[in-house]
Amino acid sequence: MAGRPRMTLHVGDITRLEVDAIVNAANETLLGGGGVDGAIHRAAGPGLLEECRRLGGCPTGGARITGGHRLPARHVIHCVGPVWRGGTAGEDELLESCYLNALRLAVEHDLRTIAFPAISTGAYGFPQDRAAEIAVGAVSGVLARTPTIEAVTFVCFSAAAATPYRRRLKTD
Ligand code: AR6
Repeated sequence: MAGRPRMTLHVGDITRLEVDAIVNAANETLLGGGGVDGAIHRAAGPGLLEECRRLGGCPTGGARITGGHRLPARHVIHCVGPVWRGGTAGEDELLESCYLNALRLAVEHDLRTIAFPAISTGAYGFPQDRAAEIAVGAVSGVLARTPTIEAVTFVCFSAAAATPYRRRLKTD
């Protein structure tokens, strides 16, 4: 029986989503920055930075979890995507690791609804189409063997950024 699709696409601001966890595209310091990281810290308030300080950073490809503070989301999973260096410096594997580590944390914390931004595709310069291929591939692989995760939303900040996802998720 076909149920609701477990991977969906949303065009908009990830900080507005009421889900168990939103994922942040952070840097190794976990102390904030621009892009989606800046937006998440602004919306969550200073308590998030305080909690992040106690984490002591995170390596590229890794993930760490905090509370959501003033966000509608209950948690933030902070991932550190790779800086794009041309594609031969392990960028694909590091980006895939972000998605896998984020979902592993979600499962460990019994989180069922998770929203991801397009990690590494802004300031870090990862090509958008290649990043979407990795994101959808990694998430669909985990969902196939993880029934407890109910829904994963890919959040794109613009309609143009959503195109590579739309094609792979076969949504209208
Ligand atoms: N909601 C959803 N997506 C967003 C939002 C938002 N509110 N704001 C931006 N995006 P980026 P990166 C999209 O640069 O490439 C930071 O300074 C954006 O359009 O946020 O992983 C960190 O501290 C793009 O498609 O993250 C790091 O130093 C995507 O989110 C560095 O940038 C990711 O762009 C990380 O760079």
